[in-house]
Amino acid sequence: MQIKKIAIVGSGLIGRSWALLLARSGYPVTMYDINKEAFIKVRQFLIDALNTLSSKCLLSPENFQSISDLVVVTDDLAQALYGADYIIEAVTEDIEIKQSLYAKMEEIAGSNAIIASSTSSFPISLITARMVNPERCLVAHPFNPPHLIPVVEVVPGPGTATDVVDITMEFLKSIGKIPVLCNKETKGFILNRLQNALLRECINLIDNGVATVADVDAAVSAGIGLRWALMGPFEVFDLASDSGLKGFFEHFKPVLEESWQQERNKKLDSEIITKIIEQFNAVDRPEKLKRIKNRDEMLIDLLKIKKQI
Ligand SMILES: NC(=O)c1ccc[n+]([C@@H]2O[C@H](COP(=O)([O-])OP(=O)(O)OC[C@H]3O[C@@H](n4cnc5c(N)ncnc54)[C@H](O)[C@@H]3O)[C@@H](O)[C@H]2O)c1
Repeated sequence: MQIKKIAIVGSGLIGRSWALLLARSGYPVTMYDINKEAFIKVRQFLIDALNTLSSKCLLSPENFQSISDLVVVTDDLAQALYGADYIIEAVTEDIEIKQSLYAKMEEIAGSNAIIASSTSSFPISLITARMVNPERCLVAHPFNPPHLIPVVEVVPGPGTATDVVDITMEFLKSIGKIPVLCNKETKGFILNRLQNALLRECINLIDNGVATVADVDAAVSAGIGLRWALMGPFEVFDLASDSGLKGFFEHFKPVLEESWQQERNKKLDSEIITKIIEQFNAVDRPEKLKRIKNRDEMLIDLLKIKKQI
């Protein structure tokens, strides 16, 4: 299947970042949203993000305009879906909104168009519960910001057609993404399961008075995260023992099993949330937009080193 035109339904933080990614790959993109104000943010985002890419020598000024021109916006769903071979849904994370939207899209979209949800949490089988033929739908969950972070997890449901998965995996690779396939509709898919496990320990460490928010953040960004940006946890530990991963498990099996016993899974009560927020806010930081720009610039530098941009 040749993908020629893309529709993005939902033009918020994730939708607009997908739009930039796809337009940079040369695709005409039509964006739809129920809130027209989202379109003002789309234009501002494109200007800011293209400026950042251009300041990092990733595009020339003449491409700047042609990329922006590939992104058009409309408040008419039928117009957005017209002629689209691939539809990316990135609306608010609300199951009622998603289910009624999918039922509507089924009536309007071309019969061969694939529909990929950006959802961070809902299985596609739930999102498509009101559709008659859900086989063309699946989850393609990006990591924020999608125009920079390479990984996208692809999560089919039991009703998703195999060729829809194959086309999506190939399509994502063709636009420079690194798709990972989540074979089962597990809660949190792959990425959020991993992220949530670490976050649980971060919160436990603060709750138990073992460490401060600042030290937990530093432990991740100046320690674990630096290695993880280069290789996954299994490869990290393969390098951590002369006898490789096998030696690692032989040595650390008791330590790992003991540490998994020691922490209970807590409820997130207001006391711990307040403690974390107070500690986080006690540190002076530049304003948020500046921090986002800074994050994106550092991500680009890192991706350049990794030859992933
Ligand atoms: N924010 C993240 O870090 C992140 C990361 C990965 C995936 N996601 C997922 O991406 C999706 C979008 O999240 P976001 O952070 O961009 O949210 P957002 O609030 O920034 O944007 C959502 C947009 O959807 C629009 N919308 C709501 N109902 C609509 C409808 N019926 N039709 C068309 N547009 C509608 C809203 O007006 C808004 O502009 C969610 O499913 C979320 O789980 C978010």
